[in-house]
Parts: sequence; C-alpha cells; structure tokens
Amino acid sequence: MEIEAHNGVATRQLLRKLRMPAHGRPLRGGAATWCGRWSSRLGTCGHDRSWPVPRRQRASRCRVIRAQTSRARWVNVAKYVAMSDEHVPLFRRAELEAVLQPVELARNLPGGVYLEPAVFALERETIFSTGWNCVGRVEDFGQAGSFLSVEVAGCPLLVVRGADDELRAFHNVCRHRGACLTHEESGVARSFRCNYHAWTYGADGQLMAAPLMDERADFDLAEHGLASIPLDTWGGFVFVNLDNETAALAEAMNGFPDLERYGLESLRRVHSVTYDVAANWKVLCENYSECYHCALVHPQLNRVTDYRSGGESFIGDSFNGGPMALKEGYTTLSTSGQRRYPEIEGINDADRKQVHYLHLYPSFLIGLAPDYVLVHRVQPIDAGHSRMLCEWFYPHTTVALEDFDASETIEFWDLTNRQDWGLCEMVQEGAESRLTPGPYHPLEFCVHAFDRWFVEQLGDRLATLRR
Ligand code: FES
Ligand SMILES: [Fe+2]
Repeated sequence: MEIEAHNGVATRQLLRKLRMPAHGRPLRGGAATWCGRWSSRLGTCGHDRSWPVPRRQRASRCRVIRAQTSRARWVNVAKYVAMSDEHVPLFRRAELEAVLQPVELARNLPGGVYLEPAVFALERETIFSTGWNCVGRVEDFGQAGSFLSVEVAGCPLLVVRGADDELRAFHNVCRHRGACLTHEESGVARSFRCNYHAWTYGADGQLMAAPLMDERADFDLAEHGLASIPLDTWGGFVFVNLDNETAALAEAMNGFPDLERYGLESLRRVHSVTYDVAANWKVLCENYSECYHCALVHPQLNRVTDYRSGGESFIGDSFNGGPMALKEGYTTLSTSGQRRYPEIEGINDADRKQVHYLHLYPSFLIGLAPDYVLVHRVQPIDAGHSRMLCEWFYPHTTVALEDFDASETIEFWDLTNRQDWGLCEMVQEGAESRLTPGPYHPLEFCVHAFDRWFVEQLGDRLATLRR
C-alpha cells in the first residue's frame, strides 16, 4: 500500500512484472535489456537503463539479485525503482492548469507542491534565487561595520555597511577554498577573517590580507574580494537578490500601492518574534491573504474587523492585497480595539478606518493599521517547515512617548499568529493525502492570485518534474 501511495501506475506495472518468475519470458514489445532477460525497460534485476553500470558489473549484479528470491526483497527493489522512475510526473498537467483558470473556475494547488523536496529545490532555484528577499531594516545597520549574516535560498549571505556608509550584500563565502566566512548573526566588525587560512576582508568586501599568497607572483588581492549581490531598499526595508542580472527592486515592485504617506522609513521596530511553523512557506502566504477563516478561528480579530468588509482586493505581477474595514467603534487592531497613540502622520481618511494587507512576492507581508505597521517575513526551511519572523513598527515619535507600551498590539497579533499557524499546520498535514483540491471562495481572490503566480513562475519545469 505504501508503494501504491507513492507511485500508482508505475508501481502497479512493476509489481505485475515481479509476479513473473525471475527467469521468465520477455515481456511484450521491448528491446533486449542490460540483464539480457527481459525486454522491458526494467530488467529482472530492477536496473533502470539510466543507470550507468558497466556491462561486467551488470552481469554480476543481476546474478546477485536473482538469488534474492523472497517477495519481500522484490518489493524493496520495486519500491526503489518506483521512487526513481523518471517517467512518472509529480503532477498532472490538468491539475496545474486548473489553478490558472479564472478564480470562479480554478482549483487550489495540488498537495504535492507543499510536500515534494523536488518542488522546494525548484522554488529555491527560481523564485528565491531570482526574487527580491527582505533581510532586515536599514536601522539594523546603524554604523560602519554593522552586519547581518542571513540565508536566502540556502545561500549564506553577509549584509554589511562599509566605512563609506554604503550598504552592500555579499555571499558569506571566502574566496579561497569557499569556507563560510562568519557564523555570527549580527554585530559590528571592521573586517572579516576566515577561520581557515586567515584570508581577511574589509567591510566593503575587498580582500585585505591573504597570508603567504605573495609567494605566487600572479596573485592579486584586488581580484579576490567577496562576491557581491544586488541590494536595494524600500520603505526602510533591505532587500537582496541572488541574481546579478535582476531588474531593480523598483521595477520588480512596479504597480505596488504607494505607501509613502505611512513614512515607512522613519518607523521604528519595537518588537519581533520568530515562530517555527510545521508548514510549507506557501501555506503561510496563502493564509495571510484571506479572511474567509476569520469568523471561525479569530474571534478577537473578527470583533474588530469584519471578515467580509473592506474595499476591493487587487493583484499585480509581483503582489496582491486589499483592505479590511475597522468595525464601528474601533480605531485600531489590538486587544481593546482602541488606539492609545497618535495615528501615523500623513494617512488619509480612508486609512483611518481600515487596515491594509499586502503581500509582495515571494514572502514579504505587510499590514498597515492607522497607528502601527506589522510585517511578516516567511523564511522557508524545507518543504514542510518555515520560519516566520513577525515585527511590530511604530512612528519614532510614538516610541519616544513616555508612556509608550505596545503590549496590546503585540498580544493581539501573537494570539492571531498562533491561531493561524495551527491552521497552516492542519493544511500541511492534509496535503499528505494528495486528494484532488477544491475550489476557491471569492474571498480567496488573493490566494488564487498568489497560487497562479506560483504556477506561472515555475512553469513547465513544475509540470515536467518527475519522481
Ligand atoms: S578557505 Fe578561507 S582562507 Fe582558506
Ligand atoms: Fe488568519
């Protein structure tokens, strides 16, 4: 049964073959195989033709495997071959195409996209290696030498402010033998010395010293600086991109709503929490983008904002979002629902009665209340696990108030977050069934936009992934 679950058709075919005697007659319609016994793609030994096994070894391997007469042994071989059968697609094209339909006809993503390591690897290679990933705030780099070491798409990165005040991002990798340069998460440093052979780099990435390398006449320090990657900022947030050919962040954000009035650059982070969630990063993003579940799961949130309220949701090439209206008598999102501090200077009348939620792909989520801003950053760990970094921001003028206390909003969102992570983990568990997914509710318009973007990003490479 376990084999069936992994690989239906191919496994059934293989088991049919396995019911034949070890030296049975050739199966219909194939050419001679490596083991010289069967004419199917798989020999009696279970060798796949794609295995580059030399002829002599093939013969001896076949003899060994033929000697394994118990069915249990054969089933093990069948399982291995079924799992490695490169002709079985992970997804049916029809189920991927169904996601691309207009929302009223579309179906949700198939469960496998939340489970398969091959999909996760492809996402790293495409979405996260070519997209703009938020790694911090400008305020995290307060002085020359301030640095953060982070990871994007599995790559260790170093973001550091140089002595010239320039913020730069590099691969956190020594240019000698490729050791990871620093494991410190953050700090202030004038230089970075590799702990292997002591090559030392400045905060601008230039190689400053390489012991004994002057014994090589052709060695030039200037040619071996840290490998840089694009870095850009928006609203005081620092974004990096692993693709040196990438379009500028502003171009990637083309059409993103203008949030200038919120003065994001001048906001100050007052609190942050990191959550480890046993769910795929896409499940977390999807959950953020709909409030269809709010009445049932978030009574505290639903008391303050009506899940059916707000203006029209909108989508762009790299984002989706929409507002939700505060209910009559409430002025912000918090445990009391009452704003204790001044609203953000510059917001308009509509903003005073709403909370805006936006998702900048792939994994930057920002919510704007009248008096504060909440950011969620999703960091994929593996196909079934993610880290969610949640940060609270207030205007620096509010933070400077003597009685400033953000606990009402922190408590409110910590509760809401934890309610959400429970839902996400439920979806992750359910994905294991790989049942045909269902339709979207109109309130899930933004979820559909994101899923559609996801399928388009991976394109044919997703459709042609094989087991
Ligand atoms: S690997 Fe860094 S100095 Fe040798
Ligand atoms: Fe929620």
